[in-house]
Amino acid sequence: MNLPARLLLVVGIFVLAAGYWLTDFDAHFAFFGDGRWKPTRVADAVNGKVLFAAGGCISCHTTPGSEDRVHLGGGKPLKTPFGTFYPPNISSDPQDGIGRWTETQFIRAVRDGTGPDGKPYYPAFPYTSYRHMSPDDAADLFSYILTLPPVSEKPRAHELAFPFSIRRGVVLWQLAFLEGTVIEPAGNQSESWNRGRYLVEGIGHCAECHSPRNIAGAIIDEKRFSGGPNLEGKGIVPNLTPDKTGLATWSEADIANLLKDGFTPDFDSVGGSMAEVVRNTAELNDTDRMAMAIYLKSLPPISGQIRSK
Ligand code: HEC
Ligand code: HEC
Repeated sequence: MNLPARLLLVVGIFVLAAGYWLTDFDAHFAFFGDGRWKPTRVADAVNGKVLFAAGGCISCHTTPGSEDRVHLGGGKPLKTPFGTFYPPNISSDPQDGIGRWTETQFIRAVRDGTGPDGKPYYPAFPYTSYRHMSPDDAADLFSYILTLPPVSEKPRAHELAFPFSIRRGVVLWQLAFLEGTVIEPAGNQSESWNRGRYLVEGIGHCAECHSPRNIAGAIIDEKRFSGGPNLEGKGIVPNLTPDKTGLATWSEADIANLLKDGFTPDFDSVGGSMAEVVRNTAELNDTDRMAMAIYLKSLPPISGQIRSK
């Protein structure tokens, strides 16, 4: 072997070793893990129910065609540019669901995107937003889910295109794009603004649909909330910032009303995935819906694509 070939071999081995090290599940845990977490209060399933509604867990985890909205057997196809995901069973079933999980395992899944066996989750599960919720709130959410009926069935495996089908590679995505932690209240803002930010940016994961994404599928920070691609079909997901291409003409009450009954100020009703979101936000109280509206109206205006009606 000549010298360049040998050098190439050494570099190749180095790159492989580095890749192997970087994608190691447990090393990953050391980066994002929160193993030292201890609850600061008794888990509160009533608060968990509010978070469950705000988080729209039903929209992805309810088995399609089930009459019971809390039939959390999973399996509803979620189409993305990377392939189709079939969200898992998150019911209280000990075998097929998460009934046997510990509180810490659950918190790590929703906040760090890491499973009990150390596997990284695809960000189609919006833990990128859920991680902004406090571990105590996540524990409340878990305690509520455990009160829901067990469902014994396993949905089919995801159908993803190569190389996205290599789960281990998701660790690299997490290293590059998974950021931020619990959102703490800002001292110079009102209680409702802080509550609104906590709900919109965290558990409500509104930015996940309402923002453009880069080629790796991560939200483009500077364009957050300025509208996103519509994975369900034509058109775009509208701009939520108070720009003229967004919600400039909407009052806070208009936004809060939409989150309650699905009607825009022109008496159009929202459809598709937003209709699903509204079924969830309709279960919140007026104070929480108004808080979200107050926060959205306070965002810097960012110009986005105009929607063709
Ligand atoms: C946009 C769709 C979507 C929403 C909304 C969603 N999930 Fe998921 N969830 C997924 C997908 C997809 C996976 C599988 C990810 C993977 O395989 O890497 C998943 C995985 C999970 C897992 C891991 C289960 C396991 O068996 O390993 C848990 C726990 C979970 N979700 C809880 C929740 C909770 C709680 C909520 C609401 C706060 C929620 N999810 C909302 C799509 C979603
Ligand atoms: C699963 C994707 C998804 C999520 C999550 C989502 N939205 Fe939407 N949203 C949409 C789509 C799609 C539309 C357009 C619906 C239509 O016009 O029929 C929409 C429309 C809206 C509108 C109406 C805007 C207009 O110009 O007509 C508002 C306001 C809104 N969403 C607020 C929110 C808030 C607040 C959240 C978080 C609690 C949220 N959305 C989360 C997909 C989503």
